[in-house]
Amino acid sequence: MKTLIIANWKMNPASQKEAVSLFKFYSNLSNKTKNKEIVVCPPFIYFSDFLKLRKGGIKLGAQDLFWEKEQGAYTGEISPLMLKNMKCEYVILGHSERKINLNETDEMINKKIKAAVSSGIKAVFCIGENRRDSEYKYYETIKEQIEKGLCEINKEFLKNIIIAYEPVWAISTNQNAEATQQDDILSIMALIRKTIMNIYKHKNALRIPILYGGSVNSENFNKFTELAGLSGFLIGGASLKPKELEKILK
Ligand code: PGA
Repeated sequence: MKTLIIANWKMNPASQKEAVSLFKFYSNLSNKTKNKEIVVCPPFIYFSDFLKLRKGGIKLGAQDLFWEKEQGAYTGEISPLMLKNMKCEYVILGHSERKINLNETDEMINKKIKAAVSSGIKAVFCIGENRRDSEYKYYETIKEQIEKGLCEINKEFLKNIIIAYEPVWAISTNQNAEATQQDDILSIMALIRKTIMNIYKHKNALRIPILYGGSVNSENFNKFTELAGLSGFLIGGASLKPKELEKILK
């Protein structure tokens, strides 16, 4: 199985010129990469540039969508159908920055996941605790996020769900952020599988890819890659740096 690398560009870069140059860099690298599936999630405004420039097998992902599936009077929103029409195959949902800055709730995230997966777009559903406590209450937080996010999502759509475990404190833009320890990720992965299995009681629940995100860079990447059961990474900061990318995608 190829390692899934999802590049979350967030609100970067500021100009089309920079975005185009970064795309070109990705395209050239992707030709040399055999064992990685690369998904680039740029701001919407750069989607058409991406479609013109993409080479190799690079896929396009969005950083959000709206839960009304086609079109309508929803100022500022982008629908799953619009994304499908732009050949977008993935969407990041539930990212902690949207929860913090835009008050996105578990219910909103659930509606978005439903709209994405039933439209045939793969939902990269982000979960993760804000902080850790010595009584391991954060396990409960993670379990609850999964249960609410996947509420009433039929098992036929399991194939379109990817879980990204991103502890908020480990995201590189937070003060004193550092990547999680490998052992911790293993125990959270077990919790994720168990929670999803409890919801669906179906073998496909065991196949849901689990990604890790939070300060992943060229230095820690290989250690994480060795973790059994981890399908890939959601990468923010390092996905904007050509030197980092070169090492990660080689
Ligand atoms: P980071 O961001 O790799 O810069 O920590 C990851 C994310 O927020 O998705």
